[in-house]
Amino acid sequence: MTSYEKLKIELEAKPKIWLVTGAAGFIGSNIVETLLKLGQRVVGLDNFSTGNRWNLAEVKKHVGPARWKNYKFISGDIRDLKTCQRACHGVDFVSHQAALGSVPRSIEDPLTANACNLTGSVHLLVAARDHKVKRFVYASSSAIYGDHPRLPKVEDIIGRPLSPYAVTKYVNELYADVFARCYGLQTIGLRYFNVFGPRQDPNGAYAAVVPKWIAAMMKNQRVQINGDGKTSRDFCYVDNAVQMNLLAATTTNPKAVNQVYNVAVNERTSLNELFALLRERLLLYYPHLKRYQPVYRDFRPGDVRHSQADISKARRLVGYAPTHRIERGLDAALDWYRRNL
Ligand SMILES: NC(=O)c1ccc[n+]([C@@H]2O[C@H](COP(=O)([O-])OP(=O)(O)OC[C@H]3O[C@@H](n4cnc5c(N)ncnc54)[C@H](O)[C@@H]3O)[C@@H](O)[C@H]2O)c1
Repeated sequence: MTSYEKLKIELEAKPKIWLVTGAAGFIGSNIVETLLKLGQRVVGLDNFSTGNRWNLAEVKKHVGPARWKNYKFISGDIRDLKTCQRACHGVDFVSHQAALGSVPRSIEDPLTANACNLTGSVHLLVAARDHKVKRFVYASSSAIYGDHPRLPKVEDIIGRPLSPYAVTKYVNELYADVFARCYGLQTIGLRYFNVFGPRQDPNGAYAAVVPKWIAAMMKNQRVQINGDGKTSRDFCYVDNAVQMNLLAATTTNPKAVNQVYNVAVNERTSLNELFALLRERLLLYYPHLKRYQPVYRDFRPGDVRHSQADISKARRLVGYAPTHRIERGLDAALDWYRRNL
């Protein structure tokens, strides 16, 4: 039995109270769904800036009315300290996902990125400290590796950030570390690498590559590849990220706490390969993709060229064992997009 399988049994036997920020977003709503299915009590917090009510409606449908009763939602903004204080009241674990994602968005509007991702996170740290939560798990990012060329990425070796977004995530890690030292708050940071899966938004200028391309291919619109297509990423199915949140919040290994972890699969897929994987799968349902080709355009400023995670630290210290490699993840994601787009 894996650590995660054991944990799920323990949580069902002894439910806890969780605060999930960014609950109406992609990763947050998947965490909420898993927790509710395990009989946990969950407080969700979101301001619907990039998330939406439809995500929560789908969670409600999936978990059923009995489990949905364990869910309380606060519509609010983490830039407001009082809202964070209210949300942390009586909570065992915080899983902090709320942030404005996207490197280009942060380049266009660094002030809002800073207010949401940094000031908002400090508010939550303060609230978690004041309410003596047992552990504060938060979303960091592979963007922290910045311009450092080393592959695979190991947690201790980072480069210079390439965007305001990366700065906010890096400073989050510094603050979490300082809150551990100064106030004894237990924190764990999760450096997600290109997470994808159900409920990730395919729309808008800042959409992530996987849902954006799926939507474009289904509608027979052009897929645009930034650069030569050899740019590579460690694409991580959302269930792996959910698993890591639950393991991080509950690990009893003292060495595992007040650390940051890569969350991915330890595989590298180029954009050209991703295009081929998606096309091959969608071709079964959309014959118009037979002669379909991407359009190549300029590299995008702030983008890291290659990315691949060393996940041995997460495996060793918290028992992380990703259940989905990219192919299986894409099958599951495509199944969802075909039913829902
Ligand atoms: N998806 C990825 O590949 C990826 C990679 C690295 C890091 N991350 C991080 O993971 C977290 C979740 O990302 P996601 O992909 O689910 O994005 P998402 O946009 O779907 O979810 C973020 C949620 O946070 C909410 N939010 C934003 N600002 C808020 C505020 N000020 N107050 C309250 N709620 C606010 C949004 O409305 C949204 O529901 C983010 O912190 C993001 O930076 C994601």
